[in-house]
Amino acid sequence: MTFRTRLFLAITLLLVVTLGTAFASVFVVVHRSELRDLDEALFEAAQEEALEIVVAGNETQIGGNPVSTGDDGSRLVKYAAVYAADGHVLAQTPSFSCGAPPLDTVLHRRGVPFDLTCGSVNLRAVFARLPQHEEDRLLLAVPRTQLDDDARFLIQTMVVALVSSIAIGAVVARLLVRGLTRDHEAIATVARRVANGDLKARISTKSKNPEMVQLTRDVDEMIIRLEQLVHSQERFVAHAAHELRSPVTAIYGELSLALRKTRDAPGYRQAIEHALESTKQLKSLAEELLVFARIGANEAKLAPVRLSEVVASAVSAVKDAMAPRVVVIDTSCDASFIEGHARDLERLVRNLVENAVRHSPDGSHVTVTASTVDDEVRLSVADEGSGIPEADRARIFEPFFRGAADRASEEGAGLGLAIVSEIARAHRGQVHLESDRKKGACFVVRFAVPPALVESA
Ligand SMILES: Nc1ncnc2c1ncn2[C@@H]1O[C@H](COP(=O)(O)OP(=O)(O)OP(=O)(O)O)[C@@H](O)[C@H]1O
Ligand SMILES: [Mg+2]
Repeated sequence: MTFRTRLFLAITLLLVVTLGTAFASVFVVVHRSELRDLDEALFEAAQEEALEIVVAGNETQIGGNPVSTGDDGSRLVKYAAVYAADGHVLAQTPSFSCGAPPLDTVLHRRGVPFDLTCGSVNLRAVFARLPQHEEDRLLLAVPRTQLDDDARFLIQTMVVALVSSIAIGAVVARLLVRGLTRDHEAIATVARRVANGDLKARISTKSKNPEMVQLTRDVDEMIIRLEQLVHSQERFVAHAAHELRSPVTAIYGELSLALRKTRDAPGYRQAIEHALESTKQLKSLAEELLVFARIGANEAKLAPVRLSEVVASAVSAVKDAMAPRVVVIDTSCDASFIEGHARDLERLVRNLVENAVRHSPDGSHVTVTASTVDDEVRLSVADEGSGIPEADRARIFEPFFRGAADRASEEGAGLGLAIVSEIARAHRGQVHLESDRKKGACFVVRFAVPPALVESA
């Protein structure tokens, strides 16, 4: 059942309950008031009638006048009977065609009205005292016909009014609900389209309600972000496939050529070496892709990591990998800690130092520092190399972006800095390139540090 239908049913139900209760209350009030008027008139009539009873010896006579009730003075058929103390009926009007009821079946306190039936006629009755014969009592009753007719008419009128009010209310509720839920429906429709893969779907609302306008804007913004994310994922996959294809093509070419053309042993060896070179490229690219995919999804518990240790092991790994290069790597680290994953942080430092060494002339220095300033840990990697051209600065953190000079080289895929940026983000940090350097490049990573860790350092 849709939200719109549920809301409509809820409002209609509320309407039925509210109107039903209101109409029932009105009926009860009106009916009671009429009954009270009748009872009061009946009681007065009974007292007057008691005065007119004539008791002569053994004979008791009841007057023949009809009973008049209410302000309109309407006259009603009189049902009267006089009972002796032992219940014996001393006199009764002929209207009691079925006979006056036995006293013990109708005995009520004097002055308290009650219901009575005589054949098919419903009566309202009351007992009154005879002033001249205290032990005798007069039963005076009148038909309830007028009262019951009024009640029936009231019920019929109210049922018609209730049904029409509910019908009109339901139509109004339907229009109201449609107006109120138009924007929700629009959002739900767009959500369904997005769920089915249509990222071009947008909510176009004409609503003037500021909350709705804001919600619509937020949902549209969310879809735009989602679209950008999906596009960037698609671009990433296309780049990755492209990067993977180059070494695979090289291996395939090298091996099929070696198979087709018979060579001597050194020739085969050379072919294998070439294939191995491409395999290494493939392996390092696959590793980088895996790292990139894994960042942020690392479910291992965060632990305090001392940056000096991370820097030492990253620098040693880079030195081993770049052994023929003569670049001096200086490190200056205090006892700073951050909370994170040591392996990822080591990867971050290694990527930055690798880049620095790769772009540094032989004999130059690369400086790695780690220090805590106020509530921030700063890690920087600076070199004395070529620096980064102004035009490339905005894009160097994009996956697969490589500078013009690096594109020709077979080394690297352009994932290093993207990985650095993701690892920094996963550690509540941020990486940026310092812009005011005259020589070389300097990358700075800033981490927020939990105060407790800074103190313990
Ligand atoms: N220290 C640096 N000096 C000069 N240019 C740099 C430096 N670090 C990065 N760059 C530029 O930024 C580009 C992107 O760097 P990134 O580390 O992402 O990729 P890569 O080093 O080319 O490949 P990978 O890191 O995947 O092996 C590089 O191609 C290079 O042009
Ligand atoms: Mg790199």
